[in-house]
Amino acid sequence: MKIIILSSLKGGVGKTAISIHLALELRKRHNVVFLDLDPQASATDFLLRDTDIDQLDRRGALQLLTEAADPRELIWETGFGIDCIPSTLHLHRAGIEMAGDPGAMLRIAKEVRCLEYDYAIVDSPPGLSYEFRQAINMADIVLSPMTYDRWAVQGVGMLIDEVAKARKSGGSQRLLVVPSIVSGSEDEKLRQDMDGEVEFSRASILRKGVVKTALGRGRPLPSGSDSEEQFHRLSKELS
Ligand SMILES: Nc1ncnc2c1ncn2[C@@H]1O[C@H](COP(=O)(O)OP(=O)(O)OP(=O)(O)O)[C@@H](O)[C@H]1O
Ligand SMILES: [Mg+2]
Repeated sequence: MKIIILSSLKGGVGKTAISIHLALELRKRHNVVFLDLDPQASATDFLLRDTDIDQLDRRGALQLLTEAADPRELIWETGFGIDCIPSTLHLHRAGIEMAGDPGAMLRIAKEVRCLEYDYAIVDSPPGLSYEFRQAINMADIVLSPMTYDRWAVQGVGMLIDEVAKARKSGGSQRLLVVPSIVSGSEDEKLRQDMDGEVEFSRASILRKGVVKTALGRGRPLPSGSDSEEQFHRLSKELS
């Protein structure tokens, strides 16, 4: 099992879009479970769009983080060939409830790793939170989308510090930055400006209407599109 976390302190950088489309690419060749650790639940909205919210509330990431529930009992089948441990807005409670239980982080990471899948893809919320730290803590690869804007450098600096902290607690996370929602020229500039400071993925996810539309409509990317090819290349790099 390889655990890949989508993570960024800055919001709106493409974490959810990349986590979903990366998971859909990987499932063409592997067994994939998706863990939604973002209380905004955007990925759950994509994967389990027609499922009743009250039902999702009873069996999902909140029970994993706060009730020591067996993750195998929290898994839902989706219509996309991947399984999912969903989120709902109630996941916001997790941080408050878990403040007094630091050992839970290690336990949860271990249990997720024991699930019988090739990959776990985890979407996480922006900003420093319990769910954010839980995600980083369990990762093999921290995949951080980076857009071309003036907060990007500061954001990645803070993420480097967070990953370093997790490594000190015994983890061996690899931090990989993926240029996201960029034009071709922004992609080039980003890579030049940050040269030597971070490890970049070879693939970039360019700004394309099809990615936005697919996420909004809860659909996979059009087969044969440039964006699908970019996610294919990214998935090959990670597998
Ligand atoms: N490659 C892309 N090209 C064009 N639009 C994109 C691309 N990736 C994401 N978007 C759009 O940008 C917005 C932010 O993307 P997304 O929700 O994936 O970011 P996020 O980092 O998960 O945000 P949040 O921090 O709120 O969870 C969405 O409207 C999405 O449809
Ligand atoms: Mg998101």
